[in-house]
Amino acid sequence: MSRLIRAVIDGGALRHNLEVIRTRAPGARVMAVVKANAYGHGLEQTALALPGADSFAVARLEEGVRLRERGISAPIVLLEGIFTDEQLREARRYDFELVVHDALQVELLAAAAPLEPPALWIKIDTGMNRLGFRPEAVRQAHQRLGALRPAPPAIRLMTHLACADEPDGEMTRAQLARFQASTRGLTGAVSIANTAGIFGAVPVGGDWLRPGLALYGVSPFARGTGRDLGLRPVMSLETAVIAIRSVPRGETVGYGALWRAQRDARIAIVAAGYGDGLPRNLPSGTPVAIAGRIAPLCGRVSMDMIAVDVSAAEHAAVAVGTPVVLWGEDPAVETLARAAGTIPYELLCAVSQRVPLELR
Ligand SMILES: Cc1ncc(COP(=O)(O)O)c(C=O)c1O
Repeated sequence: MSRLIRAVIDGGALRHNLEVIRTRAPGARVMAVVKANAYGHGLEQTALALPGADSFAVARLEEGVRLRERGISAPIVLLEGIFTDEQLREARRYDFELVVHDALQVELLAAAAPLEPPALWIKIDTGMNRLGFRPEAVRQAHQRLGALRPAPPAIRLMTHLACADEPDGEMTRAQLARFQASTRGLTGAVSIANTAGIFGAVPVGGDWLRPGLALYGVSPFARGTGRDLGLRPVMSLETAVIAIRSVPRGETVGYGALWRAQRDARIAIVAAGYGDGLPRNLPSGTPVAIAGRIAPLCGRVSMDMIAVDVSAAEHAAVAVGTPVVLWGEDPAVETLARAAGTIPYELLCAVSQRVPLELR
């Protein structure tokens, strides 16, 4: 092994997950959400590994430009749209579809005529109160965009769900009702469902699905993992043991002397820390896979290292160089996120720049 820590990216798992997503809504198209460096999986390589996606969604102009520069010719949607005339012109140059969520963006499009507008997605704020036209403003925005000359090649409708991961579905049903009421009679394809909308309790429907997390094989729900949804984890964060220490009973390990050996202990020092994106608040006991067997983290995560208790007989063969999986098949990233009191999205996005991504 030439590298210690690396994030191994399984292109086959990406494609498998796309197919599983398609089975949830046969006939719907899939806009693969690859913003934030494809949730840490590598923007360009993820898009290139998904030739079956109907389009890609990114948050920022720069992300879309990177995709075009790597030869991606599929439609690319800018989820936050544009904010200046210069950005609009750049978006046209790269043939991006635009989310329009604000009157300012309508004005920019109107002022840019006779520049031909791109395909547009009107975003409706049905309760998230983040981006989007309030329901009562939707018809006017639709009418103004429909009156643009030259006309946009398509005007579509979208909203984003705030609580689709929650089992009771109350907020989702309320959002769907607002969406239906505010768009009744308007023509245009519809996109509503993120991962939790695709796999959640309430049937969400729509012509276009917008999965991010599920593509990467991960579950957004409070319990279970992507495997329970038929998905396969795409990222495996792997490293190795770099030292083995004998720690006498009563001595402590690591910063803050937080973990104390209750008996003579064998401790493996592993090359991974918060400098690589591991959350510093992972508690002692968090599972770490050493040579495929789970052992408990002990003491604080430091910048470049963690300590793992390999005193149990089943870890007797652990030595310098033994491979370690921080998350992947087992433990799942969902398990680590729960241990750190966060969501798997944050862990995946936080994998740091010094961790090379290896596509397999
Ligand atoms: C507008 C929009 N659509 C879709 C997604 C994908 O969500 P998920 O990763 O939960 O599938 C996101 C992600 O945050 C988003 O902001």
